[in-house]
Amino acid sequence: MLHQLRSVIAGAGNVWSHEYRFMRADGSAAIVSDQAFIIRDEAGTALRILGSMRDMTEQRELEQKLRESQKLEAVGQLTGGVAHDFNNLLTVILGNAEELSELLREDSQLRQMAEMTATAAARGAELTAHLLAFARRQPLQPMVSDLNRLVQGMEGLFRRTLSEDIDIEFVRCAGLWQTEVDPGQLEVALLNLMVNARDAMPLGGKLTIETANARLDEEYAANHTEVIAGQYVMVSVTDTGNGMDPVTASRAFEPFFTTKAAGKGSGLGLSMVFGFVKQSRGHIKIYSEIGEGTSIKLYFPRSHLAASAIAPAQSEEAVFGGTERILLVEDDDLVREHLANQLTSLGYQVLQAGNGPEAIGILWETTGVDLLLTDIVMPGGMNGRELAERARQFRPDLKVLFTSGYTENAIVHHGRLDPGVELLSKPYRRKELAAKVRRVLDSDS
Ligand SMILES: Nc1ncnc2c1ncn2[C@@H]1O[C@H](COP(=O)(O)OP(=O)(O)OP(=O)(O)O)[C@@H](O)[C@H]1O
Ligand SMILES: [Mg+2]
Repeated sequence: MLHQLRSVIAGAGNVWSHEYRFMRADGSAAIVSDQAFIIRDEAGTALRILGSMRDMTEQRELEQKLRESQKLEAVGQLTGGVAHDFNNLLTVILGNAEELSELLREDSQLRQMAEMTATAAARGAELTAHLLAFARRQPLQPMVSDLNRLVQGMEGLFRRTLSEDIDIEFVRCAGLWQTEVDPGQLEVALLNLMVNARDAMPLGGKLTIETANARLDEEYAANHTEVIAGQYVMVSVTDTGNGMDPVTASRAFEPFFTTKAAGKGSGLGLSMVFGFVKQSRGHIKIYSEIGEGTSIKLYFPRSHLAASAIAPAQSEEAVFGGTERILLVEDDDLVREHLANQLTSLGYQVLQAGNGPEAIGILWETTGVDLLLTDIVMPGGMNGRELAERARQFRPDLKVLFTSGYTENAIVHHGRLDPGVELLSKPYRRKELAAKVRRVLDSDS
């Protein structure tokens, strides 16, 4: 470094700058940017050096955080794309395998093979669902909720998940604000944290689940990427387990990052939690010390809306068909053919189109179409949402059901479904398809 400075002085240049680590009086390290300007006489001999030093520590740390969040963002986009395409394939595999096993005799060996195929495809579907969760693209159904109530409802589940040598304590904040969150996904997220805590305490310990009102201020927001200052409702899961070193903690949200033995962990637990919290416009933070334990805090934005009634769970056991006329629009031939078969086998009359303009043509020519079942992402200059809008201009009572491998911006805003929009996420089981189609056909609007 000094060598460089000397050679600049000896030469003809007049600026020099360098960034290096610097030890502060308290022993902590600072990153400084050192700049020098060399003043020369007419002959070019160096007379003086004017120098300044700037503390760059905070800026460099922020840049590092930004790089980490950009990396997660990029991985998320890749993951979301891959999961989307796999969902199309899995829709066909799962549906055909289910149908095959229904057609085959119970004792036939072929039926077992069909069932195995269906099981494997269902596992694949679970995996893509996890990847979509990380990519912030799972369809969420947020409801105005009281986190204390939600957590209380999960107590039994938590106790069953943890062994008896782990004490559980619930600390509920009185006067907790309301928040808007998808209760089912929150449960999945907390369960993931719980399982991680259990794994970190093989010899037992203590687990604390705490709720609190929280304000993330401007300073906090400035120091954390993607955080908007404001009022939040916090829920944290704290264990007295092994803890994480800083490297593990900084990578823990990456999909497939795991320190567990092969077959023990997939490394998707925290990735899903991360994606879910971000998609809910919240914030997640890990505090961990090796040998001390770990605390993971989830923040969800405060909501001032009135509490929503919890929708009754849909019973999806029975498969109901119908005889209505359905216009099916899907650009992937394989998926379209498969869906058409399924709908036909449920008793429906099915018309098919490969893109938006073709579908509009069919709607003009045909009367009595009851339902438009359309993919969202389609080539041909018209996506599913645009198609639905155009169709409703001349068929105002047409019912619409969208399908998608992932929720596109076309119908999802801020990661949530627009009100009144019905979506069937790929891949789906036959009974889910049947139930959703029936529900939309039977709806009033
Ligand atoms: N409570 C915790 N205490 C200590 N380490 C943790 C804790 N939670 C997560 N980790 C670390 O973060 C890693 C990633 O966690 P994550 O939940 O994403 O994956 P996993 O638990 O390894 O696998 P999976 O959840 O998919 O079964 C873990 O392997 C572990 O090293
Ligand atoms: Mg885990």
